[in-house]
Amino acid sequence: MSRHFLQIPGPTNVPDSVLRAMSAPTIDHRGPEFAALGLEVLRDIRPVFGTEGPVVIYPASGTGAWEAALVNTLSPGDKVLCFETGHFATLWQEMAGKLGLDVEFVPGDWRRGADPEAVLRHLSADTGHTIKAVCVVHNETSTGVTSRVPAVRAAIDAAGHPALLLVDTISSLGSIDYRHDEWGVDVTVAGSQKGLMLPPGLSFNAVSDKALHASRTAGLAKSFWDWAPILAANERGFFPYTPATNLLYGLREALRLLYDEGLDAVFERHIRHAEATRAAVRGWGLEVLCADEREHSAALTAVIVPDGYDADKIRAIILDRFDMSLGSGLGRLAGRVFRIGHLGDFNDLTLAGTLAGVQMGLTLAGVPIDPRGLNDALERLQTP
Ligand SMILES: Cc1ncc(COP(=O)(O)O)c(C=O)c1O
Repeated sequence: MSRHFLQIPGPTNVPDSVLRAMSAPTIDHRGPEFAALGLEVLRDIRPVFGTEGPVVIYPASGTGAWEAALVNTLSPGDKVLCFETGHFATLWQEMAGKLGLDVEFVPGDWRRGADPEAVLRHLSADTGHTIKAVCVVHNETSTGVTSRVPAVRAAIDAAGHPALLLVDTISSLGSIDYRHDEWGVDVTVAGSQKGLMLPPGLSFNAVSDKALHASRTAGLAKSFWDWAPILAANERGFFPYTPATNLLYGLREALRLLYDEGLDAVFERHIRHAEATRAAVRGWGLEVLCADEREHSAALTAVIVPDGYDADKIRAIILDRFDMSLGSGLGRLAGRVFRIGHLGDFNDLTLAGTLAGVQMGLTLAGVPIDPRGLNDALERLQTP
């Protein structure tokens, strides 16, 4: 009878005040009241990206913002360098290929982030500067691995290469420290339904001056995704089409919640919850999928299920008995891992309840675990 436990790594639980904000009556999107809302959210969205530049807001899921990042900056046949960090990196490079780009997809084992040394190697070898963009998924939601974007930036600089840096922060923005300007990112792609604590339906491109400059000559076909008419209308708080007005009410409230808590405190909270989750997983005697200590995601943890057990059956038991949803294994990880989302609107007791549900579900599924795992997590939560 109580609220469902939605512990997938997005969409995340929407705070009550955000739900209430979205329930206000829809207004004329060409009237003065809307212009004030538009100007406010277009200004206040910038700090969460760590940028002073423009952020384009689309009424679309994250996949749309992926496409927007590519079609606004690149031309048919341009070479892009992508890294096989997991399911979402695989989908993004597939999209790039379908759009007519020439993709170099650096293979990976789905347990590590984009390798800065590989960036340096590929870009140093590209003396003719045929590679026009490097695409990195900051937080790979399918694996719980966070790529080290500053190290990728440093590798691009060390190679003295002019390629654009495009970064997907769909499951990190508002949960994991991110700095568009300071890290020299050219396009940051984001979505509403994870760290921003909104329902699905909005997505974003934060745009650097260099990306804006590239967009003036980018030759890939575009219409709906074209930054130019959107940025022109945004100057007065409007959009060239009907915006998702009620999601923008929600965005205004979600940003207020994030800034009231303080972004640094938000990031610290996510790190603590991720540490407590890993303490539980290791205490149970199970393995975390992420293989590099420097790259553990603060937003979610992917747990490897022992041979002979089916992760989807464990998830089904947990859903049936405790009304809790966990993330499934995606792509080649199907059935082999489950994912615990600990991002967005989340506190210590939400995590304690989540981990208790996982522990009971593992036991009911007959997975041999040490039940002291939950206690290890609680001990971590007891310390600030
Ligand atoms: C890292 C990442 N990139 C891209 C996407 C695709 O976004 P959407 O499903 O909102 O289109 C997702 C969705 O979960 C994601 O986690």
